[in-house]
Amino acid sequence: MIAPIAGFSKLSKNEKIKWLADTYFHDDETVVGTLKKYWNSDETLQKLHDEFIENTITNFYLPLGIAPNFLINDQLYAIPMAIEESSVVAAASKAAKFWLNRGGFKTTVLSTEKVGQVHFMYFGATEKLEAYFNSIKAELFAATKHITQNMEKRGGGITDIELRDKTDELAGYFQLHCTFETVDSMGANFINSCLEQFAKTFETSAKSFEPFSEQEKDIQIVMSILSNYVPNCLVRAEVSCPIETLVENESMDANEFAEKFIRAIQIAKTEPYRAVTHNKGIMNGIDAVVLATGNDFRAIEAGIHAYAAKDGRYSSLTHAEVTDGIFKFWIEIPLSLGTVGGLTSLHPLVKLALQMLGKPSAKELMQIVAVAGLAQNFAAVRSLVTTGIQKGHMKMHLINILNQLEATETEKTHFINFFKDKTVTHSAVVNAFTAYKTEHAS
Ligand code: MEV
Repeated sequence: MIAPIAGFSKLSKNEKIKWLADTYFHDDETVVGTLKKYWNSDETLQKLHDEFIENTITNFYLPLGIAPNFLINDQLYAIPMAIEESSVVAAASKAAKFWLNRGGFKTTVLSTEKVGQVHFMYFGATEKLEAYFNSIKAELFAATKHITQNMEKRGGGITDIELRDKTDELAGYFQLHCTFETVDSMGANFINSCLEQFAKTFETSAKSFEPFSEQEKDIQIVMSILSNYVPNCLVRAEVSCPIETLVENESMDANEFAEKFIRAIQIAKTEPYRAVTHNKGIMNGIDAVVLATGNDFRAIEAGIHAYAAKDGRYSSLTHAEVTDGIFKFWIEIPLSLGTVGGLTSLHPLVKLALQMLGKPSAKELMQIVAVAGLAQNFAAVRSLVTTGIQKGHMKMHLINILNQLEATETEKTHFINFFKDKTVTHSAVVNAFTAYKTEHAS
């Protein structure tokens, strides 16, 4: 039985690693070696990364790739993507190139509203609570002036505070539902600081609101927190082209392709099992850019999936249609992103990624990220309704299998060539590799 450890965070990095190796790896020195191999030799850079979180023992690498040739609103971008899945960057690049010659991607930011809520309990007359809220609303704004001043200078701030009665769903439950404009920052700290101040003012001032009875004066704040559901922070990205230009070669009829593609989207709209995988493919593109640009991909994931279920059933985030001979494919998603604050000016690779994108505003980044999602979905659905997904996926995965087999560089070149005109499966690679090794053993 492993004993709990007290004061772990106080140990030095080396002591933490030693404890880990002793406790879970029978003092195996190779564990220490592996962890230290990923330390950066630049001590300042390493310290920066160590200090991002608590109890850092090493760095966890993900590849940072680039998908070039994205034409977005007539401007060319090379999009940075941090992701481990072998075929994602290749698929994005392919889709970018495809649409480059067909007018590129057109995008619009539809709204930028962020949300936060103070959740509280009140067991009394609703009219009195409404009267109290109306009497205190201006004070709520005033009490946060010290927090909002800088944000207001940048064009943002608190846009509204609303009292919401949720007692139909939970006895005594009310909210201050608050909306914000946070301009180029994701705004989590700003929003949470405002909310905590609202809560304090709201709870304290209730004590001296005379129409309240003694019990009504006792408003119980449960919590104050931003919401990652931002259905009014929306961006749209779209591609379109005449239907006859939809296929690149004669192997498939353009109308047949469009029909199959639209069917695939319709299936994702009606069937949640398919919709989840369909949207997962979209998130392959979105998360990779969100991560590379130092944003919070968990927040983005949570918000987007909630949006996918907004009509009561989990559904496709993308849409497609043919009207008057024009094929149109689009996405509309909520994205709360920042290009200032957080990791954006701290992580050297995040800085580089943002620089590469022309130091975008948060609105511009919303558009780029939405495009990455749409492109990824186009590539996936196109493969699914034509060749099947495994052809491209396994081609990219081949190198991983060869690495697992500890193939040399010469062997890798040989097998990449060997599988050019063959179907890649794990067993086919293992069998071919084993035969090759036997043949070349001497
Ligand atoms: C794999 O990471 C993503 C796909 O499954 C997406 C899809 O099915 O649309 C290929």
